Amino acid sequence: MIAGLKDPGLFREAAFIGGEWVQGGSGATLAVDDPATGTVIGTVPDLDMDDTEAAITAAQGAFGPWRARTAGDRSAMLERWHALVLENVGDLARIMTAEQGKPLAEAEGEIRYAATFIKWFAEEGRRASGHDVLGPEANRRVLVMKEPVGVSVAITPWNFPAAMITRKCAPALAAGCPVIVKPSELTPYTALALARLAEMAGFPKGTINVLTGRPAAIGGALTASPTVRKLSFTGSTRVGSLLLRQCADTVKRTSMELGGNAPLIVFDDADIDVAVASTMISKFRNSGQTCVCANRILVQDSVYDAFAEKLAKAVSALRVGPGDQPGTTIGPLINAAAAEKVKAHIDDALSKGAALFASGANDMTFDRFAAPVVLTDAAPSMLLASEETFGPVAPLFRFTHEEQAIEMANATEYGLASYFYTENLHRAFRVAERLEAGMVALNTGSIAMEMAPFGGVKMSGLGREGGRAGIEEYLESKAFHIAGLKL
Ligand code: SIN
Repeated sequence: MIAGLKDPGLFREAAFIGGEWVQGGSGATLAVDDPATGTVIGTVPDLDMDDTEAAITAAQGAFGPWRARTAGDRSAMLERWHALVLENVGDLARIMTAEQGKPLAEAEGEIRYAATFIKWFAEEGRRASGHDVLGPEANRRVLVMKEPVGVSVAITPWNFPAAMITRKCAPALAAGCPVIVKPSELTPYTALALARLAEMAGFPKGTINVLTGRPAAIGGALTASPTVRKLSFTGSTRVGSLLLRQCADTVKRTSMELGGNAPLIVFDDADIDVAVASTMISKFRNSGQTCVCANRILVQDSVYDAFAEKLAKAVSALRVGPGDQPGTTIGPLINAAAAEKVKAHIDDALSKGAALFASGANDMTFDRFAAPVVLTDAAPSMLLASEETFGPVAPLFRFTHEEQAIEMANATEYGLASYFYTENLHRAFRVAERLEAGMVALNTGSIAMEMAPFGGVKMSGLGREGGRAGIEEYLESKAFHIAGLKL
């Protein structure tokens, strides 16, 4: 139960398969709790392999008619979904805050961000045509035709319960692919509310399906199915590589948006105020629980103290609390295990010589809250240098020259995002070209937007979401050779 919804019908305690709201064959359920209080807000069906098979069958049944529609029809449906999402932004944000914990204003921001993908791919879908190629003989032509890959699966995480769904589903649907969404079992309600809005927008039965429950049985059935032709996953590198192995037997297309360990480099010729303001965005958005969060903050010697002072002042002004409490800027972490990991990283760093330079207010006693902190004298031997902390911890490492900063930045198996701050154009190009990451940001902390490709290199994944590349992930190129033309 979530209080204050204008449309209580958006809160669904059922899965969505083939256009029906269902409880699943076994009748088993899973509880979902509010990370700020630990209280149960509702239950969802804990679906099994048979339910998953039913969703695959429904999606495959929807595929033929959906791909046969014009791109314009599909686009119009996405536009209606987009409008409904924006009309219901308040309710969707409330649902998200209740199950995920992020502050209401941030949840609203995520809903608007999620909606941009629907709009963008409604537009991109209309332009997803192929091209023709000059043939090797005068009377031959080759048409490169774009076709939808088929039934597509989106396995989405708890940190962005709306945006990761629309970033995968909107391009799939625009391309002509039906989708099966498996949201995190921690945050199913935002996904179900989005599905309800898609139903209201008029998507045909089976084009969008949402499976709730624990991941093992559902994921196993989805990856084993030869009918599923595409799987897109956002989550940890460990689970991503497991899914890749599971998808190998049926040779599925995959997109993997996996872990990160983003460096953020502050050079001595940076505008320090800009660097601090965008470190706050990059580091503390979603309480530090994003794959693209700055995990290691590398600061040049001569500006280290000034940067640390200014960052500490900004961090001290953050307010920790439940996401639905006015003024909260740092909500709870997703669960107690997440809070324990953050604490372990801080303890490890302090035991290896880091100093606690600043800490945001934390009068919360519940075990999932973590106060934001700035640690100085961070070093490569600390856990937080090699692992994603996924919490509000800003460790400051020191460097003396550019080459050293690049080496430190690249000293990780991950390569998702990198940020750097300089006012020197020559350095900007030198550094951007040497950073090993799928996304590099100069003088800004925000890199996630519908028009730009999002994704990583190295152990951070495969494929791109958003931008022009996003829809290609759901399209096959078929070469149609036409020979012997009587010209
Ligand atoms: C993520 O953390 O996985 C996604 C971040 C984003 O889209 O901004």
